[in-house]
Order: sequence, then structure tokens, then C-alpha cells
Amino acid sequence: MTQRFYVTTPIYYVNDAPHIGHSYTTIAADVLARYHRAEGYDVRFLTGTDEHGIKIVKAAAEKGMGPRELADQVVVHFQQLWKDLNISNDDFIRTTQERHEKRVQEIIRRLVAKDEIYAGSYAGWYDEGQEEFVTESTARETEYKSAISGKPLVRYSEKSYFFHLAKWIPALKQHILANPDFIQPDSRRNEVLSKLEQGVEDLSISRASEKLGGWGIAMPNDPTHSVYVWIDALSNYYTALGLPDIGDGADPALGSYWPASLHLIGKDILWFHCVYWPCLLMALGERLPTTVFAHGWWTSEGKKMSKSLGNFVSKEVILELCGEYHRDAFRYFVLREVPFGVDGDFSRAAFQQRYNVELANAIGNLLSRTVNMIGRYFDAAVPETQQALLAGSSVALRELTGLEAEHLAGPLQALGQEVPVLMAHCQFSLVLQKVMELATAVNRYIDVTSPFTLAKDPSQRPRLGTILYTCAEAVRIVLNYLSPFMPEKTATGLAQLGLTIGSESLSQRVRWGVLEPGTKVAKGEPLFPRKQ
Ligand code: MSP
Repeated sequence: MTQRFYVTTPIYYVNDAPHIGHSYTTIAADVLARYHRAEGYDVRFLTGTDEHGIKIVKAAAEKGMGPRELADQVVVHFQQLWKDLNISNDDFIRTTQERHEKRVQEIIRRLVAKDEIYAGSYAGWYDEGQEEFVTESTARETEYKSAISGKPLVRYSEKSYFFHLAKWIPALKQHILANPDFIQPDSRRNEVLSKLEQGVEDLSISRASEKLGGWGIAMPNDPTHSVYVWIDALSNYYTALGLPDIGDGADPALGSYWPASLHLIGKDILWFHCVYWPCLLMALGERLPTTVFAHGWWTSEGKKMSKSLGNFVSKEVILELCGEYHRDAFRYFVLREVPFGVDGDFSRAAFQQRYNVELANAIGNLLSRTVNMIGRYFDAAVPETQQALLAGSSVALRELTGLEAEHLAGPLQALGQEVPVLMAHCQFSLVLQKVMELATAVNRYIDVTSPFTLAKDPSQRPRLGTILYTCAEAVRIVLNYLSPFMPEKTATGLAQLGLTIGSESLSQRVRWGVLEPGTKVAKGEPLFPRKQ
């Protein structure tokens, strides 16, 4: 049976246009979706927008608009940016879509029927930017300001419906302890576990809808109340797959993607995803996602991103970089620069440096050296290796021995063994580092074996053939490993080697010796032209 892989990004607030933080998670999810498709998985990749809540109501009012108008305007920027970054999502959910609203109401109905919801009243602090309830002790510590935005917390005191969150905490703890991969990286898992020790209260899951100007999903048991925006938002991962048993017309096959394999999120929304969401699912009697992975935050040019400081990596800046360097270079940079899971800094200097050193000098140069030499010395046809020539051209004999093995066997073996494990743990920067190590090893191998010198001596022709076969085969493998990260550039590079990405799985494609001698290479433009 084909394995399924269901990956999600957070759904983004439509109060403002997308920036590097949103792009980061979405690119990571895209790379994982492409990687798993290439490995033969049945993939579902979901992203979307979070359009309800006080944050949107207020942002719209500041702009003199209604919330729907603002959402309709801003959602287009997200959808367009994902096209511009070549994101291959299978669905895009908006929480204002009827399909979502109806299914959220059904979820609430089911929770009410299971006695998981009760009426009460909430008196306490609220962070309107984060749409988050804040305990008295935390509020005191942060001087009654948002820990994220620094804006004053707002005092709420009103009737509300509550979810029996506290009663599910022991089961949640047990799940976290029994499943080390449930919250990743480990530092985040420890953070959740230690915060759970401080005790958890039941969760207010509704607001008087008049306080929201009627903007939100009505509680089905009490239409004067709207569903708390985080309950509405978290449910998207589930509602996007449909609830065909309520006759909503969804394709029943979609349900088989549940539970999600991976929710990718930023570190600030860990608690919602690792406490509220699994407890809600347990209360519904549903299975829990396999992994929630929280990545770090970007600063820019050494400081917190801010529009007034002029260091904001907005969608305009992203598009400008994509225009100058190519969108694949942007996708590469964000996943290469910072280990996924920790904070990192964006800077134009670092971008240019990585581009020139790794993409232009190491990868692009390796490809053009290889294609040029095969063009010049072998009439643009990939030569046969010496051993295969001796043995009568058996593919099985095209294996690494001697100097070739000395230079390349190590990095190739490391890739073969480690990439699946690293990808399973979202360690993109290490995957890219390992690929770079192979590219560097091949460049060194060319320097050491000096094919341009051998080419002057006709008696060395078989040896020259071995060397150039080795280079072409190694470049092919490098490009295949990079293909989920840089789908277009790698396709162009492979085309210069006379190849297309076939239908075999990625792990089959990266085996040594797949390249057929005789394949016609074609010189092309530099894959990554150097930038000054
Ligand atoms: N709407 C909620 C998520 C609901 S998911 C059921 C939300 N939206 S958001 O638009 O404010 O943020 C979306 C994501 O962007 C979060 O994962 C957040 O961590 C991420 N980032 C926002 N700024 C960021 C950086 N500077 N760097 C990296 N990621 C950042 O929260």
C-alpha cells in the first residue's frame, strides 16, 4: 500500500502581507512534499489563511475596511507569493470558506454532545495580537504587555463556553512521553513538558459575537457566541479533509490522509499546536498528528524585523531577490542558512556569499566543467568507464574503485545513509551541507586527476573516460538530491546532462551507475551565474 504523507503549514493571518517568516515554513513544507512525492508517497500538502478573530477585525478597522474586504484583499498576496515561490500545495483553505465554517460547527456540536463543553465566565488577560489568553502570573512578568508585540494586554471579563482542557492533560503528557517524535525538536518538547508541569486550566473557546462585530463562526449551541479563533484555526487541518458523513460533499478518499504526518509551525505557536490541538482531537476521539515541528524565527541584518527599521524582509524584498538570483536560490538559502528549529539571521551579504560560493562556484561550476569537457573530448557523449570497457560494458561493473572511490565513496555513502533520516527530522541544512560536500569532493577530484592534462595524451583516453563518466554521474546525483529544494534549476542542470527526472523514486535515482554512457550532453547557460 502506498504510504501517505500529509503536511501542513500554519494558516496565516490576513492582517498583513506575507514576509520571510511565512515563506520559510511554506518552502520547508513544499520541499518535504516534493521529497515525499519523489519517494513515491501519496502526498497531501495544505496551506491557507486564518481570517477570523479580533486581530483581523481591528486591522481592518484601522484601514477603514470591513474584515471580509481586508481578508479578500490580503489572501491574494499569499496565494500569489506561493505561486511565485513555486509552492506545490494541493489545497488552500480560508477559514471564511463555507466548507470550513460548517465543519467547525460540526466539531463543536460533537464536543457538546460528548459533554466536553460547558458554559462559564472568563475574567483575565488577552493578547489580541497573538489571540491568546494570558495567565495573571505571566501578565505580571511581562508588565501586562504582549511578550511578542509589546502591545498592552486587554482585560476580558465575560460569559464564555469552556472546553474541558484540564482533564485531557494527563493523557497528553503520556502521549508526549511515549512518542518522542510528537514534538520536535527536543528542546521544544521539553519546553512543553515543563510548562505542562505548571498546571493547565480549562480553555475559553468562545467570545460574545457582538465583541467581534459578528465576525467569526457562530457557536452552534449559542449563536450569540463565536468560536474562539484558535479553535477555528487549528481545526483547518482536519476540516480541509472534509466530513462526508455530514453530507458536505467532500471526497471520502481525503479522510484517509488523517492523521497528519507533520504540522510545521513557528516556535511562538507551539502551545496551541501541542496542547490545545491534541486535547481537542482526543476529546473528539480522533487520532493525533505524528509530529509537530516548530522552527525558529528570522531576524534581519542582525535585528528584529521591523518596517520602521527598514530591515523587513517583505514579499517585495523576496520577489526582488528571486528576480535577481532566481526563486530556487531563495528556497535554497532559507533552508541552508539556518538549521531548522533554531533562530537565524537573514542578510543580503550572507545570501550573496552562499549563492556565489555554493551555488555558482561549487555546483554551477562543476556542472559546466563536466559538460564542457565531455563536449570537447568525447564529442558531447558521456564516455564509458575503463572497467566497463574492459569487462564489455556491463552496467553492473560501473562501480567506484581506486581513486574514484577514494574521493567520492565517503560523501556518497553519507548521503545515501543520512538523507532519509535527516529529511525525516527536517534537518534541511544538513542535507544541503552533505550535498555540498559531494560537490566539493568532485571538484577536488577533478583538480587531482587533472583531466585537461590527460586529454593531451591519447594513450590516457580510457582513463579520461572514467574520470568524466565519474564527474557526470556525481553531478547527476547532486542535482537529484537538490531537486526538491530547487526544482527548476536542477531540471535545467539535468537537461544539460541530457537527462530528465524519470519516474523512478529519488532513492533509486541517486544510486551510482545509473547514467548511461552515450548520453548526449548539451552545453548551456551557467546554471547560477556569479553575482558581484
Ligand atoms: N494564524 C496563526 C496560525 C494558525 S495555525 C492553525 C498565526 N499566523 S501568523 O501569520 O501570525 O504567523 C504564521 C507563522 O509565521 C507562525 O508560525 C510564526 O511563527 C511565523 N513567523 C512570523 N514571524 C516570523 C519570523 N520572523 N521568522 C520565522 N517565522 C515567523 O500565528
